[in-house]
Amino acid sequence: MKFLDNIDLKNKKIVFRADLNIPVLNGKVADYSRIKSIVPSINQLLKNNNKVFILAHYGRPKGKINKKYSLKFLCNELAKILNKEKIHFIEAFEDTVINKKIDEMHQGDICLFENIRFNPEEETNDINFAKKLSLHFDYFINDAFSASHRNHSSIVGLPKFLPAAAGISFMNEIKNLDNFLNKAKKPNMAIIGGSKISTKIKVIYNLIDLFDTIIIGGAMANTFLLTSNVKIGKSLVEKDYLDIARDILEKAKLSNCEIILPIDVVCSTDIKNKENVRVCKIDDVFDNHMILDVGEKTTKLISEKILKSRSVLWNGPLGAFEYKPFDKSSIDIANIIYQYSKNLQIDTMAGGGDTIAAINLTKAQNAFNYLSNAGGAFLEWLEGNKSPGAIALEENNL
Ligand code: 3PG
Repeated sequence: MKFLDNIDLKNKKIVFRADLNIPVLNGKVADYSRIKSIVPSINQLLKNNNKVFILAHYGRPKGKINKKYSLKFLCNELAKILNKEKIHFIEAFEDTVINKKIDEMHQGDICLFENIRFNPEEETNDINFAKKLSLHFDYFINDAFSASHRNHSSIVGLPKFLPAAAGISFMNEIKNLDNFLNKAKKPNMAIIGGSKISTKIKVIYNLIDLFDTIIIGGAMANTFLLTSNVKIGKSLVEKDYLDIARDILEKAKLSNCEIILPIDVVCSTDIKNKENVRVCKIDDVFDNHMILDVGEKTTKLISEKILKSRSVLWNGPLGAFEYKPFDKSSIDIANIIYQYSKNLQIDTMAGGGDTIAAINLTKAQNAFNYLSNAGGAFLEWLEGNKSPGAIALEENNL
């Protein structure tokens, strides 16, 4: 795979895949991480007098033009963050429009394309669409690791027709994932939370062979607890996955991977009910209660494990963190990592939208060696699968 930081690109027309699928609340950008992540690559390209054309998607407009998903509003944001007076914009993916824009732009200018997903050809990975678009450019840079699990035209189609390289943020994502999965300092542990075991089965199977300890939290832990007949009241559970949970526990034993489940929990009659919140041992959950977070004893156990580890990977909150007070254990773990990071040599990485949102509720962002911008793409990588976008870059030898 070629990397932008060791290739010489000057005075070229670059088509640049970014992931600008960012959270927007009441018309305002709620999190700038993905925009900020492309700044190093873009700055390097601009410094070398390239014309940069950003391709990105926003939401899931399903191949139709839909104003609600227009990327135009990001021109101002990009101008501010990249310190540019103007960001050009192309609304229609038509040859004449693109040619006109290329002529109008100066070296070192940036242009943002309208949402690539307004074209039905993007998600069907139409090879002719990619080819036609590629003809306008000299080089393809993919700096959208978080969208590279999609077999889409702007991810896997363009590198079939253009010389291609990974951008700086893409490179950081895969280098850090590789470090944490394959070259981690031992002992290593993974904290895996979230609500559904069904979405994390492949992740856990893959991590069993790579990690010394896996902590399982979130509603996903309930299915594991039920395998040993722990009474979980009316907690969320996936009964169809009980056999899989048993199999995971068996395989973990064979691989010498210690699986830790909650030993105490925070419960209530429902997620919005703060009146009946009760902390109890895992064998004492009321029939009419649901488990909504892990308790302090479990948090202490996790923190002791972190102290004994040399690398920690975190994906998925440990409780229903969107609802107070069930965010407590996730916040406590982020803060514990923050405290330890000051004095201890522990490598820490976290990824996934909810996990990063939980960490953002604390001061701990800077304590992590690496925070991934990716959601689905991060999970697929943890499953042991290279993304189609990464494979396309590896296979590119134009
Ligand atoms: C993401 O937000 O995870 C990426 O931008 C991919 O978006 P998608 O799930 O709509 O393909």
